[in-house]
Amino acid sequence: MGASDADFATRVVRWQSRHGRNDLPWQTLRDPYRVWLSEIMLQQTQVVTVKAYFTRFVERFPDVASLAAASLDDVLGLWSGLGYYSRARNLHRCAQALVLHHGGAFPRDAQTLTTLPGIGRSTAAAIASLCFSERVAILDANVKRVVSRVTGFDADVAVAANARALWDAATGLLPAEKRAVQDMARYTQGMMDLGALVCTPKKPGCSECPVQLDCRAAIAGDPERYPVRSRKLRRSSQSIWLLWVETEWGDVWLGRRPTPGVWAGLYCLPLFESEQALLDAVPAYARAQVQVAPAFLHVLTHKDLHLHVGRVRLPAGAMREDASGEGRWVSSGDWPALGLPAPVRKILERG
Ligand code: ADE
Ligand code: SF4
Repeated sequence: MGASDADFATRVVRWQSRHGRNDLPWQTLRDPYRVWLSEIMLQQTQVVTVKAYFTRFVERFPDVASLAAASLDDVLGLWSGLGYYSRARNLHRCAQALVLHHGGAFPRDAQTLTTLPGIGRSTAAAIASLCFSERVAILDANVKRVVSRVTGFDADVAVAANARALWDAATGLLPAEKRAVQDMARYTQGMMDLGALVCTPKKPGCSECPVQLDCRAAIAGDPERYPVRSRKLRRSSQSIWLLWVETEWGDVWLGRRPTPGVWAGLYCLPLFESEQALLDAVPAYARAQVQVAPAFLHVLTHKDLHLHVGRVRLPAGAMREDASGEGRWVSSGDWPALGLPAPVRKILERG
Protein backbone atom coordinates (compact mmCIF):
# COMPACT_ATOMS: atom_id res chain seq x y z
CA MET A 1 0.00 0.00 0.00
CA GLY A 2 1.56 3.33 -1.06
CA ALA A 3 1.34 6.43 1.10
CA SER A 4 -1.51 7.78 -1.00
CA ASP A 5 -3.67 4.74 -0.15
CA ALA A 6 -3.20 5.00 3.60
CA ASP A 7 -6.12 6.03 5.77
CA PHE A 8 -6.25 9.30 7.70
CA ALA A 9 -4.82 7.96 10.97
CA THR A 10 -1.99 6.11 9.25
CA ARG A 11 -0.94 9.29 7.45
CA VAL A 12 -0.89 11.20 10.71
CA VAL A 13 1.20 8.46 12.34
CA ARG A 14 3.73 8.33 9.49
CA TRP A 15 4.00 12.10 9.39
CA GLN A 16 4.52 12.28 13.16
CA SER A 17 7.47 9.90 13.08
CA ARG A 18 9.26 11.98 10.42
CA HIS A 19 8.18 15.56 11.15
CA GLY A 20 6.57 15.65 14.59
CA ARG A 21 8.09 16.50 17.95
CA ASN A 22 9.80 13.51 19.55
CA ASP A 23 12.35 15.01 21.91
CA LEU A 24 10.24 16.99 24.37
CA PRO A 25 11.34 16.33 27.97
CA TRP A 26 8.03 14.64 28.92
CA GLN A 27 8.10 12.24 25.96
CA THR A 28 11.09 10.13 26.93
CA LEU A 29 9.61 7.64 29.40
CA ARG A 30 5.88 7.28 28.67
CA ASP A 31 5.60 8.04 32.37
CA PRO A 32 2.01 9.11 33.19
CA TYR A 33 3.22 11.44 35.94
CA ARG A 34 5.34 13.41 33.46
CA VAL A 35 2.75 13.31 30.71
CA TRP A 36 0.05 14.49 33.13
CA LEU A 37 2.21 17.32 34.47
CA SER A 38 3.17 18.49 30.98
CA GLU A 39 -0.44 18.36 29.75
CA ILE A 40 -1.59 20.54 32.66
CA MET A 41 1.25 23.01 32.10
CA LEU A 42 0.59 23.10 28.34
CA GLN A 43 -3.10 23.91 28.77
CA GLN A 44 -2.49 27.65 28.86
CA THR A 45 1.24 27.98 28.26
CA GLN A 46 3.57 27.65 25.24
CA VAL A 47 5.93 24.69 24.86
CA VAL A 48 9.09 26.86 25.12
CA THR A 49 8.03 28.24 28.51
CA VAL A 50 6.79 24.90 29.80
CA LYS A 51 10.11 23.13 29.14
CA ALA A 52 11.99 25.10 31.81
CA TYR A 53 9.18 24.90 34.38
CA PHE A 54 8.69 21.20 33.71
CA THR A 55 12.36 20.39 34.28
CA ARG A 56 12.50 22.31 37.55
CA PHE A 57 9.23 20.78 38.71
CA VAL A 58 10.24 17.14 38.17
CA GLU A 59 13.63 17.75 39.77
CA ARG A 60 11.90 18.96 42.90
CA PHE A 61 8.94 16.55 42.75
CA PRO A 62 10.06 13.47 40.77
CA ASP A 63 6.88 11.46 41.36
CA VAL A 64 3.29 11.49 42.61
CA ALA A 65 4.30 10.67 46.20
CA SER A 66 6.71 13.60 46.56
CA LEU A 67 4.17 16.02 45.07
CA ALA A 68 1.38 14.75 47.34
CA ALA A 69 3.63 15.18 50.39
CA ALA A 70 4.63 18.76 49.47
CA SER A 71 3.00 21.85 50.94
CA LEU A 72 0.68 23.81 48.67
CA ASP A 73 2.92 26.85 49.17
CA ASP A 74 5.92 24.99 47.74
CA VAL A 75 3.88 23.86 44.73
CA LEU A 76 2.56 27.38 44.09
CA GLY A 77 6.08 28.74 44.49
CA LEU A 78 7.37 26.46 41.70
CA TRP A 79 4.34 27.37 39.57
CA SER A 80 4.89 31.08 40.08
CA GLY A 81 4.89 32.91 36.75
CA LEU A 82 2.98 30.23 34.80
CA GLY A 83 -0.39 31.79 35.71
CA TYR A 84 -3.81 30.13 36.04
CA TYR A 85 -2.97 28.92 39.54
CA SER A 86 -6.06 26.75 39.90
CA ARG A 87 -4.02 24.34 37.74
CA ALA A 88 -1.37 24.09 40.48
CA ARG A 89 -3.94 23.68 43.25
CA ASN A 90 -5.67 20.89 41.30
CA LEU A 91 -2.31 19.27 40.55
CA HIS A 92 -1.60 19.07 44.27
CA ARG A 93 -5.11 17.76 45.06
CA CYS A 94 -4.86 15.23 42.25
CA ALA A 95 -1.54 13.86 43.56
CA GLN A 96 -3.12 13.48 46.99
CA ALA A 97 -6.19 11.73 45.52
CA LEU A 98 -3.89 9.32 43.65
CA VAL A 99 -2.09 8.41 46.86
CA LEU A 100 -5.31 8.15 48.85
CA HIS A 101 -7.53 6.27 46.39
CA HIS A 102 -5.29 4.71 43.72
CA GLY A 103 -2.22 3.43 45.58
CA GLY A 104 -0.14 6.33 44.23
CA ALA A 105 -0.42 5.15 40.61
CA PHE A 106 -2.34 6.61 37.68
CA PRO A 107 -5.43 4.72 36.53
CA ARG A 108 -4.76 3.36 33.03
CA ASP A 109 -8.03 4.30 31.33
CA ALA A 110 -9.39 7.70 30.33
CA GLN A 111 -12.77 7.16 31.97
CA THR A 112 -11.28 6.70 35.44
CA LEU A 113 -8.74 9.45 34.90
CA THR A 114 -11.53 12.02 34.42
CA THR A 115 -12.69 11.41 38.02
CA LEU A 116 -9.48 13.08 39.28
CA PRO A 117 -9.19 16.81 40.14
CA GLY A 118 -8.18 18.99 37.19
CA ILE A 119 -8.28 16.17 34.62
CA GLY A 120 -10.88 16.82 31.91
CA ARG A 121 -11.86 14.58 29.03
CA SER A 122 -9.06 15.67 26.68
CA THR A 123 -6.29 15.52 29.28
CA ALA A 124 -7.49 12.08 30.40
CA ALA A 125 -7.43 10.88 26.79
CA ALA A 126 -3.95 12.32 26.26
CA ILE A 127 -2.57 10.42 29.26
CA ALA A 128 -4.38 7.16 28.43
CA SER A 129 -3.42 7.18 24.75
CA LEU A 130 0.16 8.46 25.10
CA CYS A 131 1.07 6.19 28.04
CA PHE A 132 -1.25 3.17 27.76
CA SER A 133 -2.23 3.18 24.04
CA GLU A 134 -5.93 3.42 24.79
CA ARG A 135 -7.98 4.15 21.68
CA VAL A 136 -9.56 7.48 22.74
CA ALA A 137 -9.64 10.88 21.08
CA ILE A 138 -8.18 14.08 22.50
CA LEU A 139 -9.75 17.42 21.60
CA ASP A 140 -7.71 20.36 22.84
CA ALA A 141 -7.82 23.69 21.00
CA ASN A 142 -5.23 22.62 18.41
CA VAL A 143 -6.91 19.31 17.67
CA LYS A 144 -10.35 20.95 17.49
CA ARG A 145 -9.02 23.03 14.65
CA VAL A 146 -7.63 20.02 12.76
CA VAL A 147 -10.74 17.88 13.24
CA SER A 148 -13.20 20.63 12.34
CA ARG A 149 -11.24 21.46 9.17
CA VAL A 150 -10.71 17.87 8.06
CA THR A 151 -14.39 16.99 8.52
CA GLY A 152 -15.73 20.38 7.39
CA PHE A 153 -17.55 20.67 10.72
CA ASP A 154 -19.49 23.90 10.27
CA ALA A 155 -21.78 23.92 13.33
CA ASP A 156 -21.10 26.38 16.16
CA VAL A 157 -18.74 24.57 18.58
CA ALA A 158 -19.72 27.01 21.36
CA VAL A 159 -23.06 25.12 21.53
CA ALA A 160 -22.82 22.06 23.80
CA ALA A 161 -24.63 19.63 21.49
CA ASN A 162 -22.30 20.55 18.63
CA ALA A 163 -19.24 20.21 20.84
CA ARG A 164 -20.37 16.62 21.55
CA ALA A 165 -20.73 15.96 17.84
CA LEU A 166 -17.18 17.21 17.29
CA TRP A 167 -15.96 14.69 19.88
CA ASP A 168 -17.73 12.00 17.85
CA ALA A 169 -16.03 13.26 14.70
CA ALA A 170 -12.64 13.08 16.45
CA THR A 171 -13.41 9.52 17.57
CA GLY A 172 -14.32 8.60 14.00
CA LEU A 173 -10.82 9.52 12.81
CA LEU A 174 -8.92 7.29 15.29
CA PRO A 175 -6.66 4.43 14.12
CA ALA A 176 -8.46 1.12 13.50
CA GLU A 177 -8.82 -1.15 16.57
CA LYS A 178 -6.17 -3.55 15.34
CA ARG A 179 -3.62 -0.72 14.96
CA ALA A 180 -4.31 0.93 18.31
CA VAL A 181 -1.63 -0.72 20.46
CA GLN A 182 1.01 0.13 17.92
CA ASP A 183 -0.18 3.56 16.78
CA MET A 184 -2.21 5.37 19.45
CA ALA A 185 0.62 7.24 21.18
CA ARG A 186 2.05 8.50 17.92
CA TYR A 187 -1.38 9.33 16.54
CA THR A 188 -2.27 11.50 19.55
CA GLN A 189 1.07 13.28 19.43
CA GLY A 190 0.70 13.63 15.66
CA MET A 191 -2.68 15.36 15.97
CA MET A 192 -1.23 17.80 18.51
CA ASP A 193 1.80 18.43 16.33
CA LEU A 194 -0.27 18.93 13.18
CA GLY A 195 -2.38 21.52 14.97
CA ALA A 196 0.65 23.31 16.40
CA LEU A 197 3.03 23.13 13.43
CA VAL A 198 0.99 22.83 10.20
CA CYS A 199 -2.72 23.41 10.71
CA THR A 200 -2.25 26.81 12.33
CA PRO A 201 -5.09 29.29 12.97
CA LYS A 202 -3.89 31.65 10.21
CA LYS A 203 -2.40 30.49 6.89
CA PRO A 204 -2.28 26.73 7.56
CA GLY A 205 0.38 24.83 5.59
CA CYS A 206 -2.04 22.69 3.59
CA SER A 207 0.49 22.06 0.82
CA GLU A 208 2.80 20.26 3.29
CA CYS A 209 0.01 18.60 5.23
CA PRO A 210 -0.14 14.78 5.24
CA VAL A 211 -3.96 14.75 5.26
CA GLN A 212 -4.58 17.40 2.62
CA LEU A 213 -6.33 14.92 0.32
CA ASP A 214 -8.71 13.90 3.14
CA CYS A 215 -9.43 17.45 4.26
CA ARG A 216 -12.77 18.99 3.39
CA ALA A 217 -11.71 22.51 4.31
CA ALA A 218 -8.56 22.30 2.18
CA ILE A 219 -10.53 20.92 -0.77
CA ALA A 220 -13.05 23.76 -0.42
CA GLY A 221 -10.19 26.23 -0.03
CA ASP A 222 -11.48 27.84 3.19
CA PRO A 223 -9.65 26.29 6.19
CA GLU A 224 -9.57 29.54 8.17
CA ARG A 225 -13.35 29.40 8.46
CA TYR A 226 -12.98 26.58 11.02
CA PRO A 227 -13.67 26.00 13.83
CA VAL A 228 -16.94 27.95 13.57
CA ARG A 229 -17.60 29.89 16.75
CA SER A 230 -20.51 32.33 16.71
CA ARG A 231 -20.57 33.35 20.35
CA LYS A 232 -17.71 35.77 20.83
CA LEU A 233 -15.98 36.04 24.18
CA ARG A 234 -16.47 39.53 25.47
CA ARG A 235 -13.37 40.96 27.11
CA SER A 236 -13.83 43.12 30.14
CA SER A 237 -11.49 45.60 31.71
CA GLN A 238 -10.86 46.46 35.33
CA SER A 239 -8.66 48.81 37.34
CA ILE A 240 -7.11 47.65 40.59
CA TRP A 241 -4.87 49.39 43.09
CA LEU A 242 -2.01 47.60 44.82
CA LEU A 243 -0.53 48.91 48.04
CA TRP A 244 3.21 48.41 48.26
CA VAL A 245 4.27 49.00 51.84
CA GLU A 246 7.86 48.38 52.80
CA THR A 247 10.01 48.94 55.86
CA GLU A 248 13.37 50.62 55.81
CA TRP A 249 14.83 47.06 55.87
CA GLY A 250 13.10 46.11 52.63
CA ASP A 251 10.44 43.87 54.20
CA VAL A 252 7.17 43.98 52.22
CA TRP A 253 3.61 43.55 53.45
CA LEU A 254 1.97 40.60 51.70
CA GLY A 255 -1.35 38.87 52.19
CA ARG A 256 -2.91 35.70 50.89
CA ARG A 257 -5.62 36.21 48.20
CA PRO A 258 -9.00 34.66 49.08
CA THR A 259 -10.45 31.72 47.16
CA PRO A 260 -12.29 32.10 44.83
CA GLY A 261 -11.24 35.28 43.05
CA VAL A 262 -8.39 36.84 41.12
CA TRP A 263 -5.07 35.13 42.02
CA ALA A 264 -6.77 32.89 44.59
CA GLY A 265 -4.36 31.40 47.12
CA LEU A 266 -1.37 33.47 45.99
CA TYR A 267 0.55 35.99 48.09
CA CYS A 268 -0.07 39.51 46.93
CA LEU A 269 0.27 43.17 47.81
CA PRO A 270 -2.99 44.36 49.42
CA LEU A 271 -5.47 44.96 46.61
CA PHE A 272 -8.15 47.65 46.36
CA GLU A 273 -10.84 48.72 43.93
CA SER A 274 -10.13 52.43 44.11
CA GLU A 275 -7.35 54.80 44.98
CA GLN A 276 -9.42 56.08 47.90
CA ALA A 277 -9.77 52.59 49.36
CA LEU A 278 -6.01 52.13 49.08
CA LEU A 279 -5.33 55.42 50.88
CA ASP A 280 -7.84 54.54 53.60
CA ALA A 281 -5.73 51.48 54.42
CA VAL A 282 -2.68 53.64 55.15
CA PRO A 283 -2.35 55.35 58.56
CA ALA A 284 -3.52 58.98 58.24
CA TYR A 285 -0.12 60.50 59.01
CA ALA A 286 1.50 58.69 56.06
CA ARG A 287 -1.13 59.18 53.37
CA ALA A 288 0.56 62.18 51.83
CA GLN A 289 3.71 60.11 51.28
CA VAL A 290 2.02 57.46 49.13
CA GLN A 291 3.44 57.58 45.59
CA VAL A 292 0.94 56.35 43.01
CA ALA A 293 2.63 55.29 39.75
CA PRO A 294 0.93 55.49 36.33
CA ALA A 295 -1.17 52.39 35.58
CA PHE A 296 0.23 49.50 33.61
CA LEU A 297 -1.66 46.87 31.69
CA HIS A 298 -1.75 43.17 32.57
CA VAL A 299 -3.67 40.96 30.14
CA LEU A 300 -5.65 37.94 31.44
CA THR A 301 -7.69 35.62 29.19
CA HIS A 302 -11.02 37.35 29.69
CA LYS A 303 -9.93 40.61 31.20
CA ASP A 304 -7.55 43.55 30.82
CA LEU A 305 -6.27 44.55 34.25
CA HIS A 306 -5.05 48.10 34.71
CA LEU A 307 -2.72 48.00 37.69
CA HIS A 308 -1.97 51.07 39.78
CA VAL A 309 0.69 50.79 42.45
CA GLY A 310 0.73 53.03 45.52
CA ARG A 311 4.07 52.83 47.30
CA VAL A 312 4.98 53.98 50.78
CA ARG A 313 7.61 53.27 53.43
CA LEU A 314 6.30 52.69 56.95
CA PRO A 315 7.70 51.48 60.27
CA ALA A 316 6.96 47.79 60.92
CA GLY A 317 4.58 48.69 63.76
CA ALA A 318 2.29 50.64 61.41
CA MET A 319 0.76 47.48 59.93
CA ARG A 320 -1.22 45.09 62.07
CA GLU A 321 -0.77 41.37 61.45
CA ASP A 322 -3.98 39.46 61.80
CA ALA A 323 -4.70 35.86 62.54
CA SER A 324 -6.83 35.37 59.42
CA GLY A 325 -3.63 35.57 57.38
CA GLU A 326 -4.61 38.73 55.55
CA GLY A 327 -1.20 40.22 55.89
CA ARG A 328 2.31 39.89 57.25
CA TRP A 329 5.79 41.24 56.74
CA VAL A 330 7.94 39.18 54.40
CA SER A 331 11.67 39.82 54.11
CA SER A 332 13.39 40.51 50.80
CA GLY A 333 15.07 37.10 51.13
CA ASP A 334 11.76 35.26 51.49
CA TRP A 335 9.26 36.75 49.04
CA PRO A 336 10.98 35.50 45.85
CA ALA A 337 10.13 31.89 46.82
CA LEU A 338 6.43 32.60 47.45
CA GLY A 339 3.67 31.98 44.92
CA LEU A 340 3.11 35.51 43.61
CA PRO A 341 1.06 36.71 40.62
CA ALA A 342 3.47 37.42 37.74
CA PRO A 343 2.80 41.18 37.63
CA VAL A 344 3.30 41.50 41.39
CA ARG A 345 6.60 39.66 41.12
CA LYS A 346 7.63 42.04 38.35
CA ILE A 347 6.73 45.07 40.47
CA LEU A 348 8.76 43.80 43.43
CA GLU A 349 11.71 42.74 41.28
CA ARG A 350 11.93 46.15 39.64
CA GLY A 351 12.32 47.54 43.17
N1 ADE B 1 0.31 20.48 23.85
C1 ADE B 1 -0.41 19.68 24.65
N2 ADE B 1 0.18 18.49 24.77
C2 ADE B 1 1.31 18.53 24.03
C3 ADE B 1 2.35 17.60 23.75
N3 ADE B 1 2.33 16.38 24.27
N4 ADE B 1 3.33 17.99 22.94
C4 ADE B 1 3.32 19.22 22.41
N5 ADE B 1 2.39 20.13 22.63
C5 ADE B 1 1.38 19.80 23.44
FE1 SF4 C 1 -5.30 21.79 8.26
FE2 SF4 C 1 -4.82 22.32 5.69
FE3 SF4 C 1 -4.06 20.01 6.77
FE4 SF4 C 1 -6.63 20.49 6.34
S1 SF4 C 1 -5.01 20.30 4.81
S2 SF4 C 1 -5.71 19.62 8.18
S3 SF4 C 1 -6.73 22.68 6.78
S4 SF4 C 1 -3.31 22.05 7.29
